[in-house]
Amino acid sequence: MSSSPRTLTRSGVGLRLPHIEEAVATRPSAGWFEIHPENFLANPHATELLEQLAADYPISVHTVGLSVGSAHGVDLAHLQRLQRLIDRIDPVLVSGHLAWSTHQGEYLNDLLPLPYTDETLAIVARHVRQVQDGLARRLLIENPSCYVGCAGSTMTEVEFLNELVTRTGCQLLCDVSNVYLSAHNLDYDARAYLDGLPAAAIGELHLGGFTVEPDDAAPGREVIIDTHADRVAPPAWELYAYALARFGPKPTLIEWDNDIPSLNKLLDEAAIADEVARLAVSREADAVAR
Ligand SMILES: [Fe+2]
Repeated sequence: MSSSPRTLTRSGVGLRLPHIEEAVATRPSAGWFEIHPENFLANPHATELLEQLAADYPISVHTVGLSVGSAHGVDLAHLQRLQRLIDRIDPVLVSGHLAWSTHQGEYLNDLLPLPYTDETLAIVARHVRQVQDGLARRLLIENPSCYVGCAGSTMTEVEFLNELVTRTGCQLLCDVSNVYLSAHNLDYDARAYLDGLPAAAIGELHLGGFTVEPDDAAPGREVIIDTHADRVAPPAWELYAYALARFGPKPTLIEWDNDIPSLNKLLDEAAIADEVARLAVSREADAVAR
């Protein structure tokens, strides 16, 4: 299917392997699907099923293994594997994380935080340009979920992302749930964070469930963990409405990666996102008309 991001007017859902056969067999009423390419690179059967879906649905590729923050460089073999999958399914969006997850050729099963410094910015910008040149596509970079700040940072995450956009021409994938939980964990203002992002560069929004736990390091406080194991929480919906008022309508995706529910429950969550977006846009229109 040949699509542009403008066709993503309904919310999409993250498509995980347990649902792919059902999605192919039932062709549900879904706006679009986002996949993690790493689930498909060594799974030819799943890739064939994905190609069938790509004929009927816009597909977004959200890589978790690019590691643009790695000081040791982008894994060119992984980039080539990604390119081959992209050639097969012609995704409407390609995104990755502001994080590092490889070290000396070893893949770590985590998206690890970066210090926001000029040196890190130069490294990440070089790698984002390298990926964009290699794929001949613009990359979207996602803001991380944060639990601690890096003591060596010399700029804020928002300043870092703005400069990354300026240096590379990349777009941003704003994970609204990540903004909410990072703001709680690091004690900053989530709305001020959204206010500081470059609205024109926002190409996609994410929403996912999180888990609130006692903070062992700070008795009496709670830490919010980015588990993607539940429905989107009410304060994240409120922040999503704020993001839409700030950025305008954007392709929105529901992420659910642990305790994965039925496909219908995922699609129901996407329908809630559509309704929140509809209300946010009509509120904006009313405000403009007054
Ligand atoms: Fe996300």
